[in-house]
Amino acid sequence: MNLVERDRKVLWHPYTQEKTAPLPVPIVRGEGVWLYTEDGCKILDGISSWWVNIHGHSHPFLNEALTAQANELEHAMFAGFTHRPAIELAEKLVAITPKNLTRVFYSDNGSTAVEVALKMAYQFWQNRGQERKTFVALENAYHGDTFGAMAASGESNFTKPFQNLLFKVLRAKSVPSAVSDGLTRSE
Ligand SMILES: Cc1ncc(COP(=O)(O)O)c(C=O)c1O
Repeated sequence: MNLVERDRKVLWHPYTQEKTAPLPVPIVRGEGVWLYTEDGCKILDGISSWWVNIHGHSHPFLNEALTAQANELEHAMFAGFTHRPAIELAEKLVAITPKNLTRVFYSDNGSTAVEVALKMAYQFWQNRGQERKTFVALENAYHGDTFGAMAASGESNFTKPFQNLLFKVLRAKSVPSAVSDGLTRSE
Protein backbone atom coordinates (compact mmCIF):
# COMPACT_ATOMS: atom_id res chain seq x y z
CA MET A 1 0.00 0.00 0.00
CA ASN A 2 1.23 3.52 -0.72
CA LEU A 3 1.05 6.37 1.83
CA VAL A 4 -2.31 7.69 0.60
CA GLU A 5 -3.94 4.26 0.81
CA ARG A 6 -2.59 3.79 4.33
CA ASP A 7 -3.67 7.34 5.26
CA ARG A 8 -7.25 6.72 4.09
CA LYS A 9 -7.54 3.75 6.41
CA VAL A 10 -6.52 5.48 9.65
CA LEU A 11 -6.55 9.30 9.42
CA TRP A 12 -8.81 12.32 9.40
CA HIS A 13 -7.29 15.68 8.42
CA PRO A 14 -8.00 19.15 9.84
CA TYR A 15 -10.47 21.42 8.02
CA THR A 16 -11.23 18.64 5.59
CA GLN A 17 -14.55 17.17 4.51
CA GLU A 18 -13.27 13.62 4.30
CA LYS A 19 -15.97 12.40 1.89
CA THR A 20 -15.53 15.14 -0.72
CA ALA A 21 -11.94 16.38 -0.34
CA PRO A 22 -9.28 15.46 -2.90
CA LEU A 23 -6.79 12.84 -1.76
CA PRO A 24 -3.98 14.21 0.43
CA VAL A 25 -0.57 14.77 -1.18
CA PRO A 26 1.94 12.28 0.26
CA ILE A 27 5.12 14.09 1.32
CA VAL A 28 8.30 12.19 2.10
CA ARG A 29 10.92 14.94 2.39
CA GLY A 30 11.32 18.70 2.67
CA GLU A 31 14.21 20.99 1.91
CA GLY A 32 14.06 24.78 1.97
CA VAL A 33 10.97 25.90 0.04
CA TRP A 34 10.50 22.45 -1.55
CA LEU A 35 8.40 19.45 -0.56
CA TYR A 36 8.97 16.10 -2.30
CA THR A 37 6.15 13.63 -2.86
CA GLU A 38 6.25 9.87 -2.59
CA ASP A 39 6.14 9.56 -6.38
CA GLY A 40 9.02 11.98 -6.94
CA CYS A 41 7.28 15.34 -7.59
CA LYS A 42 8.82 18.54 -6.27
CA ILE A 43 6.29 21.05 -4.90
CA LEU A 44 6.95 24.68 -4.01
CA ASP A 45 5.58 25.20 -0.50
CA GLY A 46 4.21 28.67 -1.12
CA ILE A 47 2.38 28.91 2.22
CA SER A 48 5.26 27.62 4.40
CA SER A 49 3.03 24.70 5.44
CA TRP A 50 0.37 26.97 7.00
CA TRP A 51 2.96 29.61 7.99
CA VAL A 52 4.77 27.21 10.33
CA ASN A 53 7.95 26.71 8.30
CA ILE A 54 8.94 30.29 7.70
CA HIS A 55 12.64 29.40 7.66
CA GLY A 56 12.15 26.55 5.20
CA HIS A 57 11.95 22.81 5.61
CA SER A 58 14.72 20.86 7.35
CA HIS A 59 16.84 23.94 7.90
CA PRO A 60 20.29 22.64 8.94
CA PHE A 61 20.80 25.29 11.64
CA LEU A 62 17.40 24.60 13.22
CA ASN A 63 17.84 20.83 12.95
CA GLU A 64 21.20 21.08 14.69
CA ALA A 65 19.72 23.20 17.50
CA LEU A 66 16.76 20.80 17.84
CA THR A 67 19.06 17.78 18.04
CA ALA A 68 21.37 19.42 20.58
CA GLN A 69 18.42 20.46 22.79
CA ALA A 70 16.71 17.07 22.54
CA ASN A 71 19.94 15.36 23.57
CA GLU A 72 20.25 17.62 26.63
CA LEU A 73 16.61 17.96 27.74
CA GLU A 74 13.66 17.08 25.52
CA HIS A 75 10.83 18.12 27.84
CA ALA A 76 10.10 18.94 31.45
CA MET A 77 6.67 19.83 32.79
CA PHE A 78 6.34 23.57 33.24
CA ALA A 79 4.05 23.65 36.28
CA GLY A 80 6.45 23.84 39.22
CA PHE A 81 9.56 23.46 37.04
CA THR A 82 11.57 25.76 34.81
CA HIS A 83 14.58 25.51 32.51
CA ARG A 84 17.15 27.62 30.71
CA PRO A 85 15.71 27.56 27.14
CA ALA A 86 12.30 28.75 28.37
CA ILE A 87 13.88 31.52 30.44
CA GLU A 88 16.21 32.63 27.65
CA LEU A 89 13.44 32.81 25.07
CA ALA A 90 11.19 34.74 27.48
CA GLU A 91 14.02 37.18 28.20
CA LYS A 92 14.46 37.77 24.48
CA LEU A 93 10.71 38.23 23.90
CA VAL A 94 10.35 40.67 26.80
CA ALA A 95 13.31 42.65 25.45
CA ILE A 96 11.61 43.23 22.07
CA THR A 97 7.97 43.70 23.16
CA PRO A 98 6.44 46.95 24.50
CA LYS A 99 7.77 47.97 27.94
CA ASN A 100 4.54 47.14 29.81
CA LEU A 101 4.59 43.51 28.59
CA THR A 102 6.90 42.00 31.18
CA ARG A 103 5.85 38.35 31.34
CA VAL A 104 5.60 35.46 28.89
CA PHE A 105 3.04 32.65 29.14
CA TYR A 106 3.84 29.78 26.80
CA SER A 107 1.07 28.05 24.93
CA ASP A 108 1.30 25.22 22.44
CA ASN A 109 -0.59 26.47 19.38
CA GLY A 110 -2.56 29.39 18.03
CA SER A 111 -5.97 28.24 19.25
CA THR A 112 -4.73 27.61 22.76
CA ALA A 113 -2.97 30.99 22.77
CA VAL A 114 -6.36 32.57 22.05
CA GLU A 115 -7.97 30.54 24.86
CA VAL A 116 -5.26 31.76 27.24
CA ALA A 117 -5.79 35.38 26.17
CA LEU A 118 -9.58 35.10 26.66
CA LYS A 119 -9.11 33.54 30.10
CA MET A 120 -6.54 36.14 31.15
CA ALA A 121 -8.81 39.00 30.09
CA TYR A 122 -11.77 37.45 31.94
CA GLN A 123 -9.78 36.72 35.09
CA PHE A 124 -8.22 40.20 35.08
CA TRP A 125 -11.65 41.70 35.81
CA GLN A 126 -12.65 38.88 38.13
CA ASN A 127 -9.57 39.62 40.25
CA ARG A 128 -10.76 43.22 40.47
CA GLY A 129 -14.15 42.06 41.73
CA GLN A 130 -15.98 42.82 38.48
CA GLU A 131 -17.76 40.25 36.39
CA ARG A 132 -17.16 41.32 32.82
CA LYS A 133 -17.93 38.59 30.38
CA THR A 134 -18.62 40.21 27.03
CA PHE A 135 -15.93 39.93 24.40
CA VAL A 136 -15.77 42.00 21.26
CA ALA A 137 -14.75 40.05 18.17
CA LEU A 138 -14.18 41.06 14.59
CA GLU A 139 -16.43 39.82 11.82
CA ASN A 140 -14.62 37.46 9.43
CA ALA A 141 -11.94 36.74 12.03
CA TYR A 142 -10.23 33.38 12.35
CA HIS A 143 -8.79 32.50 15.75
CA GLY A 144 -8.65 28.72 15.70
CA ASP A 145 -10.79 25.68 16.32
CA THR A 146 -11.06 25.32 20.09
CA PHE A 147 -14.35 26.53 21.58
CA GLY A 148 -13.26 29.96 22.86
CA ALA A 149 -11.34 30.57 19.66
CA MET A 150 -14.39 29.56 17.59
CA ALA A 151 -16.59 31.92 19.63
CA ALA A 152 -14.20 34.79 18.92
CA SER A 153 -13.95 33.82 15.24
CA GLY A 154 -16.36 35.01 12.59
CA GLU A 155 -19.21 32.64 11.77
CA SER A 156 -18.24 30.11 9.15
CA ASN A 157 -19.06 26.60 8.01
CA PHE A 158 -16.45 25.42 10.51
CA THR A 159 -18.10 27.11 13.51
CA LYS A 160 -21.80 26.77 12.50
CA PRO A 161 -22.36 23.22 13.82
CA PHE A 162 -21.17 24.36 17.28
CA GLN A 163 -23.01 27.73 17.48
CA ASN A 164 -25.20 26.63 20.39
CA LEU A 165 -22.15 25.81 22.49
CA LEU A 166 -20.25 29.05 21.83
CA PHE A 167 -20.40 32.07 24.15
CA LYS A 168 -21.94 35.16 22.59
CA VAL A 169 -19.70 38.02 21.48
CA LEU A 170 -20.28 41.56 20.24
CA ARG A 171 -19.34 41.78 16.58
CA ALA A 172 -17.22 44.65 15.34
CA LYS A 173 -16.87 45.26 11.63
CA SER A 174 -13.56 44.15 10.22
CA VAL A 175 -11.81 46.44 7.76
CA PRO A 176 -12.82 44.48 4.61
CA SER A 177 -16.54 44.52 5.51
CA ALA A 178 -16.40 48.15 6.68
CA VAL A 179 -14.80 49.04 3.36
CA SER A 180 -17.28 47.02 1.30
CA ASP A 181 -20.23 48.50 3.28
CA GLY A 182 -18.82 51.94 2.57
CA LEU A 183 -18.58 51.08 -1.11
CA THR A 184 -22.13 49.73 -1.14
CA ARG A 185 -23.47 52.83 0.58
CA SER A 186 -21.72 55.26 -1.73
CA GLU A 187 -22.84 53.43 -4.89
C1 LIG B 1 -4.79 34.41 13.17
C2 LIG B 1 -4.81 33.01 13.65
N1 LIG B 1 -5.16 32.76 14.94
C3 LIG B 1 -5.22 31.50 15.42
C4 LIG B 1 -4.92 30.41 14.60
C5 LIG B 1 -5.02 29.00 15.16
O1 LIG B 1 -3.78 28.42 15.25
P1 LIG B 1 -3.60 26.85 15.43
O2 LIG B 1 -3.98 26.22 14.13
O3 LIG B 1 -2.13 26.71 15.74
O4 LIG B 1 -4.46 26.39 16.57
C6 LIG B 1 -4.54 30.62 13.28
C7 LIG B 1 -4.24 29.50 12.41
O5 LIG B 1 -4.22 29.59 11.21
C8 LIG B 1 -4.49 31.95 12.79
O6 LIG B 1 -4.17 32.19 11.51
